Amino acid sequence: MHYDPDRNDHGLPFNPFKACVIPRPIGWISTVSPAGVHNLAPFSQFQNLTFDPPYVMFAANQNTLGKRKDTVVNSEQTGEFVYNMATYDLREAVNRSAAEVPPEVDEFELAHVTKAPSIRVKAFRVAESPVQFECRTHQTLRLPGNGLMGTVDVVIGRVVLIHIRDDVIGADGRLDILKIRPLARLGYYDYTTVDSLFEMVIPGENENLLIGLEGAAGGTK
Ligand SMILES: Cc1cc2nc3c(=O)[nH]c(=O)nc-3n(C[C@H](O)[C@H](O)[C@H](O)COP(=O)(O)O)c2cc1C
Repeated sequence: MHYDPDRNDHGLPFNPFKACVIPRPIGWISTVSPAGVHNLAPFSQFQNLTFDPPYVMFAANQNTLGKRKDTVVNSEQTGEFVYNMATYDLREAVNRSAAEVPPEVDEFELAHVTKAPSIRVKAFRVAESPVQFECRTHQTLRLPGNGLMGTVDVVIGRVVLIHIRDDVIGADGRLDILKIRPLARLGYYDYTTVDSLFEMVIPGENENLLIGLEGAAGGTK
């Protein structure tokens, strides 16, 4: 089958689009408002963009009132945000923090997670998350959308400090992903977690290409 997304004439009981781009990592984004209210929300429209220097992005649609989400407003007004890695163990807290609540609500309290101070930015980190990036907002790109919620703010941030909990670094010096069990979004109400992995190396002799993928410390960062 095929269908035109402008017409959504797929004939299926649910829109299949999001289930076609999977699994999506969840950027669990913390911010603080200029008034000092701490905010936390998950975004599965999240990715790294490059690595030297590292940039990440999250894309926030408008809320159900047609307004920009608090995370976007805060990251624009303060120029900062924090990415916290979402894990299987933290799934209920991640879900709680997605509730649409007024900007005056402290969403760390709503999610029942602990605030850890950051070093370079004012927004707090989620202490229970094994990996966090302190980010400075680089640019917000607004993409036009259909209807109230379709419009999206793509927030790009430069990563200025990276925190990794010591116990998730394995004896081989790599992140122990099977211990972390990152949480990822699928379509519908479905999620998955990373519970298996395998290695592949690109064929050929291009050392720089290989070092770039492996992330070898002496290589291209
Ligand atoms: C796992 C998960 C992923 C989500 N991903 C997105 C997303 O990519 N973009 C978005 O606009 N909303 C997403 N949401 C909904 C937001 O988290 C929700 O609207 C939240 O209330 C926004 O909070 P804020 O207004 O404090 O920024 C997601 C929710 C969940 C549970």
